Amino acid sequence: MTEHTSFHPVVGIDLGTTSCTMAVWNGAEPIVIPGPDGGSTLPAVVGQNQAGQIVVGRPSASDALPQIDRIKRDLGTEERLRLRGRHYRPPEICAFLLIELKRQAEAFLGGAVHDAVITVSGSAGEPQRRAIREAAGLAQLNLRLLLDDPVAAAAALGVGDQDRTYAIYDLGGGTFDTAIVRIGPDGVAVLGAAGDPQLGGDDFDEHIVGYTLRQIRERHHVDLSRDEHVRRRIRWEAERRKRELSTAETTVLDLPLLTATVSVSVPLSRRAFEAMIEPDVTKSLGHVAAALAAAELEHGLPRRAVDQVILSGGSTRIPSIRARLADYFGLDAEAVRADVDPAELNARGAGLIAREFEPAMIFEGSRPGLLGANLRLRAEMADPSPAAETIGLQPPDLLPGVPAETPADFRAVADASRSLLTTTPAGGRGRGPLRAAYLAFVAAIQAADPDSRLTELGRRLATEYDRSGRGAPDQPTETSD
Ligand SMILES: Nc1ncnc2c1ncn2[C@@H]1O[C@H](COP(=O)(O)OP(=O)(O)OP(=O)(O)O)[C@@H](O)[C@H]1O
Ligand SMILES: [Mg+2]
Repeated sequence: MTEHTSFHPVVGIDLGTTSCTMAVWNGAEPIVIPGPDGGSTLPAVVGQNQAGQIVVGRPSASDALPQIDRIKRDLGTEERLRLRGRHYRPPEICAFLLIELKRQAEAFLGGAVHDAVITVSGSAGEPQRRAIREAAGLAQLNLRLLLDDPVAAAAALGVGDQDRTYAIYDLGGGTFDTAIVRIGPDGVAVLGAAGDPQLGGDDFDEHIVGYTLRQIRERHHVDLSRDEHVRRRIRWEAERRKRELSTAETTVLDLPLLTATVSVSVPLSRRAFEAMIEPDVTKSLGHVAAALAAAELEHGLPRRAVDQVILSGGSTRIPSIRARLADYFGLDAEAVRADVDPAELNARGAGLIAREFEPAMIFEGSRPGLLGANLRLRAEMADPSPAAETIGLQPPDLLPGVPAETPADFRAVADASRSLLTTTPAGGRGRGPLRAAYLAFVAAIQAADPDSRLTELGRRLATEYDRSGRGAPDQPTETSD
């Protein structure tokens, strides 16, 4: 455990439209927490498996089973989302993502995580912010701060000993944020900000989908634009090929058997793609102009005062965007910075700011029913991803703590059992069954087992605790109830 002791267990979460990224302070810098498959981001997708359990972060091109993506766009609305044959409110879907992220953070840190700083688009309104607060509560996370995306990006750059002025340009999957910020010894000051909650890589994918559908119409004389299944497959392929075009000059969308009679290969060049998104890029520069105008009006800042442009968000990997920004600001290409991975910048900033908050011992939410709601959501989820299972791995002599999610009914007996087990020698008289019952109970909570199983294991723990208290026999006995 020693290698983990320098981690500050308050996580920074970049809650994105298409993906979520987490970072945590390691004593020297914010570290991005890897997911179970080694990647740094969790796709923001909540779906269900064949068994009807909730699975998080595993997008599928097929529509054989329902899945919900882009939940961030629905936060703060009254939308109802259908999964497992029932309806969920957006904060509940978002909570599934946060529960999974919390699990991954706990697996990485080897201990409980109760606190988070979560990013939100600068242009988000109060209903959206309230929905994120609710989702955090449902995930049993103390939300220490809702951090505006551009401030997170700016914070990640670190504070130098001189004032510098940056334009943050954050173009993700679903939202665009821009801000003019001054960073110096006194911290980060936002001088002007603007954005568009409906502008991002998703729109670029849709342009490619439209183009592909037109190609199909010309070649096969069919209009498939109303076929949701077809659209979904094309969108999936479009997103993949779009990313390819950030490094390659040409690509081909490969779409075999879209329908029984239609298979197509659609070539696409970078130049053609960049022409498609040109109006969107121009629109984003309009928002940059608005942020600059605000900075000038309110702080007397001339446009020339911008020293550097900072790129954040996956869509800024598109080469023409970088070139357009250099041109717009009259800066050298090197002054448009992408040296920190734009997909990780906001998470790093959130992880950096998270270290300012003291980690709590427990989830502090006091709203009645919150724990029950959390247990219900977790019971609906499939088994934790392999990485999360390692939470149970503890050095032999170290007992895991009583998890924050322990139901109130069993908290006292869990606390008492743990205290008994840690204050008597590990192999002590009659402690074997109690130890086994305690470990099984904690593992069930960590694995989000259903309520009935928790109740059964909780009762078993209580029985074993009673036996220990009455004076246990010399030899550990098999439990026989
Ligand atoms: N190499 C690439 N070239 C072009 N686009 C890319 C590349 N890599 C990722 N993207 C796009 O970036 C978007 C995801 O970026 P990011 O993860 O920053 O967004 P997000 O944080 O989920 O969303 P948002 O910030 O809008 O809420 C997707 O649309 C994805 O297709
Ligand atoms: Mg983002």
